[in-house]
Amino acid sequence: MLKIFILGKNIYEPLYFQRNFKERFKGFICCVKKQNRKGDKKMCGIVGFVGKKDASPILVEGLSKLEYRGYDSAGVAILKDNSIEVLKCKGRLKNLEEKLEESPIKGNIGIGHTRWATHGEPSDVNSHPHSNKNESISVVHNGIIENYLNIKEWLMSKGYEFLSETDTEVIPNLVDYYYNGDILDAVMKATAKMEGSYALGVICTKEPDRIIAVRKDSPLIIGVGKGEYFIASDIPAVLNHTREVYLLNDKEFVVLTDEGVEIFDENKEKIEKEIFHVTWNADAAEKGGYEDFMLKEIHEQPRAIRDTMASRIIKGKPIVLDKIKLTKEDLKNYNKIYIVACGTAYHAGVVGKTVIERLARIPVEVDIASEFRYRDPIMDKNTLVMIISQSGETADSLAVLRESKKKGCRVIAVTNVVGSSVSREADDVLYTLAGPEIAVASTKAYVTQLVAMYIIALYFAEVKETTSKEEIESIKEELLNLPEKAEKVLENKEILQKFAAQNYMHKDMFYLGRGLDYAVSMEGSLKLKEITYIHSEAYAGGELKHGPIALIEKGTVVISTITQMDLKDKMISNIREVVTRGAKTLAITFEGNEEVEKSVDSAIYIPKTLDILSPILSVIPLQLISYYVAKEKNCDVDKPRNLAKSVTVE
Ligand code: F6R
Repeated sequence: MLKIFILGKNIYEPLYFQRNFKERFKGFICCVKKQNRKGDKKMCGIVGFVGKKDASPILVEGLSKLEYRGYDSAGVAILKDNSIEVLKCKGRLKNLEEKLEESPIKGNIGIGHTRWATHGEPSDVNSHPHSNKNESISVVHNGIIENYLNIKEWLMSKGYEFLSETDTEVIPNLVDYYYNGDILDAVMKATAKMEGSYALGVICTKEPDRIIAVRKDSPLIIGVGKGEYFIASDIPAVLNHTREVYLLNDKEFVVLTDEGVEIFDENKEKIEKEIFHVTWNADAAEKGGYEDFMLKEIHEQPRAIRDTMASRIIKGKPIVLDKIKLTKEDLKNYNKIYIVACGTAYHAGVVGKTVIERLARIPVEVDIASEFRYRDPIMDKNTLVMIISQSGETADSLAVLRESKKKGCRVIAVTNVVGSSVSREADDVLYTLAGPEIAVASTKAYVTQLVAMYIIALYFAEVKETTSKEEIESIKEELLNLPEKAEKVLENKEILQKFAAQNYMHKDMFYLGRGLDYAVSMEGSLKLKEITYIHSEAYAGGELKHGPIALIEKGTVVISTITQMDLKDKMISNIREVVTRGAKTLAITFEGNEEVEKSVDSAIYIPKTLDILSPILSVIPLQLISYYVAKEKNCDVDKPRNLAKSVTVE
């Protein structure tokens, strides 16, 4: 079978070709891949409008299409009568909408932002737009300015003052510093000083007819209407107004007025670009061209793993944890760790237990929050409690956190949402940088929780010196290889699709594994239940004979994971036991283990990694199996019945 990959830095270009290609050459498998690039680290969405209409409703409507990029605060800045009016607030976009209804801001040029916090918790003051002191320049930003602390110190030495904890606030001040009658020139000079990633929209009272926009490693498009022009982080934000867009490249500077758009390179030379005509609908574009948010989020995992490791795991250097400060002395005093969480986060904790015990030699118990809170566990100041929660708002997990603190325990939170209740109330926090997870079934949050477990285990092992420096270094090195290996896993989908097409009608499916493979099997089984409504159970291979094997009959589906090489032979004997009773078997294992094919009906191979790190890769085919089975059954994968994304009640 011929398979064609279409690559592109911007997902829209390959999507365009894929569509044409599929129409013309029916029967080929045609896959779109986003080329590996460093960018779009921070989520957040930006918009901008210049035209004859009232800007604020257009900005708010555009932001509503970008809420999938972040939703912890929102704001707009609008130019009117040579001044800028800013309205911004913490919370969902509807808060901003209500405020704008109470006190409308009129004006035909404006910029807007919806935020997903990374530097500075969600608050009114940390919300965008950010301005210079006399509010003559306002900026919206998506990205991370990595050298913002240096710039901030330098600007402060020149008398500049700062109000927020954000990296973004340096930008309007830097632009102010360089402003000498030409806002485009000032933005060019400011960006030349900035390291990191950015998509920017800038307005200035001294040139009140224009927006300046530029990008580097964060997405930005320009919408071209009739006498009205737009900037946006993503196409859906402009689709109600125009289908003609420019797809910007890095370091292309744009001047937008109601008379048109001019694009310049870094040397201020004018550039001619081709207009891109959008043919798909807003819904498809919001999902980056994927059919569902879940599929999009599964594909975002290499990026999410990379971001969660970035600046924490550096070859040859100790692990850096900004918001966890446990000394060797502190760690010596802890004789027990409880990891407490719910659902998928609990499954990440099960992996965390093995990894922390193995590397840091501290006994770890993992528990489900709703059980833990009512079982009067033995805990005191020598107990360390770790709460894992994507949302940081799960009622049971929060209750355990509070109870643990009452009992004098130190609490570490592992969460995806900056400023969430769990992050605010814990003593230490490690953020997973998955970005907003929209699909109810957790995927990218889970793999980043796993990464967090490895980071914490390595940190403890380094501080306590319980694992040799060489072993720690080899684990770090291999962790850094995982984003690329995860990309490879995502390329290998046909067997999974075929498996789903052949098995979606079953009423039960079983998952088997030993050690870390058992932990991952639990997560695979949960994914299947959640989105396909097929009953499933995960069993530890060695438990089969103690009861579950009675369930196996002709045609029962058994999915095994075999990545723990010291347990491989034992797993293969377990598989033979179910094969003898008529089971249909699929195995997930490392490349190089092809001999498993003698024992199973089909096998999926993932790139070889250290056994201890395998869950990060082996969970991906399990997620995809659930996804494809759900699609075969026509289930709503993003919003499975009876489930909510964040369980804030008991
Ligand atoms: C499963 C899933 C849930 C959550 C659980 C905990 O796909 O998403 O099982 O993992 O409700 O949620 P958080 O992590 O937000 O505490």
